Amino acid sequence: MAKKTNEPKLDFKTDWAYEPAPEDTSHISLKKKYDLFIDGKFVKPNSKKYFATYNPATDEKLADIAEADAKDVDKAVKAARKAFTKWSKISAKERGKYIYRIARLMQERAREFAVIETMDGGKPIRESRDIDVPLAANHFFYYAGWADKLEYAFPNRNPKPIGVAGQIIPWNFPLLMAAWKIAPALATGNTVVLKPAETTSLTALKLAELIRDSGLPDGVVNIVTGAGATGAAIVNHPDINKIAFTGSTDVGKLIQKAIAGTDKKLTLELGGKAANIIFEDAPLDQAIEGIVNGIFFNQGHVCCAGSRLFVQESVADIVIRKLKDRMETLIVGNPLDKNTDIGAINSKEQLLKINKYLKIGKEEGAELYQSSCTIPTKGNFCRPTLFLNASQSHRVVQEEIFGPVLTVQTFRTIEEVIEKANNIPYGLSAGVWTDKGSKIFNLTSKLRAGVVWANTYNKFDPTSPFGGYKESGFGREGGLHGLMPYLRF
Ligand code: NAI
Ligand code: MG
Repeated sequence: MAKKTNEPKLDFKTDWAYEPAPEDTSHISLKKKYDLFIDGKFVKPNSKKYFATYNPATDEKLADIAEADAKDVDKAVKAARKAFTKWSKISAKERGKYIYRIARLMQERAREFAVIETMDGGKPIRESRDIDVPLAANHFFYYAGWADKLEYAFPNRNPKPIGVAGQIIPWNFPLLMAAWKIAPALATGNTVVLKPAETTSLTALKLAELIRDSGLPDGVVNIVTGAGATGAAIVNHPDINKIAFTGSTDVGKLIQKAIAGTDKKLTLELGGKAANIIFEDAPLDQAIEGIVNGIFFNQGHVCCAGSRLFVQESVADIVIRKLKDRMETLIVGNPLDKNTDIGAINSKEQLLKINKYLKIGKEEGAELYQSSCTIPTKGNFCRPTLFLNASQSHRVVQEEIFGPVLTVQTFRTIEEVIEKANNIPYGLSAGVWTDKGSKIFNLTSKLRAGVVWANTYNKFDPTSPFGGYKESGFGREGGLHGLMPYLRF
């Protein structure tokens, strides 16, 4: 007689223990209209213009956001300049205390930040809750610790703050990028004018409320909202001393041109097209998880995403089969649902761009493969996608797609894969999967990439510097290196 068991029988396709469990959003209080945060207060924009921000998973309007013009930016820079005279002179220990307070308040409000991040930007709640918000708070904690230790970080060099920093950030990690920018600037005694991306202003504005509540002196952090023109007004303002930009390579180049000939300092964190390299001796099941996390984390809206897969020929068939099986288990859908693996594409424009590349890849002759999952009919969604048999010259291999789209190439020798991995305009990150330490050391020195992960992918830590080579930009954020762009010696 067959033994009775309590084990439920899993039908992989339909059951998968999947119960929709959307996050409760009733406790989230969003204002109808958000103003500019200048000199410690929320103020109306000079033009009286506002633009809408939407939930990309439902197309619902969430709020109206003020559009700052050059006059508003000027007001913010003046407030930051005035605040700089005091902020740069208070004791370093005192500065640290304020930054610790911001970090603690962020932890206290973590849940609200996570839900708003997911509503406004489309990323899965599991990621906002477990990665974005805790990492953002950690970034403030980490740099708070440096505030009174700068002389030890740079002995005998008498580090001094630069002045007013203009900071422009993208939509893929809205709160985390604000933390990456603001925390080191404050720790080193600078003041800030920050602009979030136009599709994801809400957590930056929540951060503005938090900063006001923290008692940070007025004008030390100013947050102005708007699109490219607002960003350009920051870049071109004559009284800004430093620009920190994260975003597309195209805009990075525009900014570099705009400030040429001025004495503004500049750091650029731009695009990427990382190679994720799987050798035949790699722990394959672990590598499959690394491939999935590398490209499908945050819908592939990640500058360091492992968007080019290189598999050693001898294991290519098995890796691709396992990868396809794993992709079938990924749930694409409501970002507020804790079970969702892949949320909404951040904007209609970005979805159009991704779909354009799906067409280009097919026309170029790569073989398109998508998981068979259903996707919601409303909102912006894209199935996890592979381009098999991709070639080095294909545009889908050379250009940043910034979506859940992975190109797959095979290789035979180490020399071949190094050559192909580097043969690209970008150089932000890479991944290596192998059992051999010697191979890891060999590759990490030969790959032209700012970050190389070994047997893991997309791991971030405030102590670790991050930044690129070539068209991925220059300058480092994070770690002790991340202090340098905000200091003069
Ligand atoms: P974008 O580079 O236009 O936007 C990034 C930020 O720059 C936003 O805050 C935007 O308002 C601001 N900005 C735009 N034009 C500006 C200007 N002339 N001067 C100053 N600031 C300006 O990126 P977009 O158009 O949203 O995305 C397009 C593509 O860029 C994506 O598909 C992706 O490939 C890439 N991208 C890469 C990012 C990364 O982290 N490396 C982040 C965002 C986009
Ligand atoms: Mg939005």
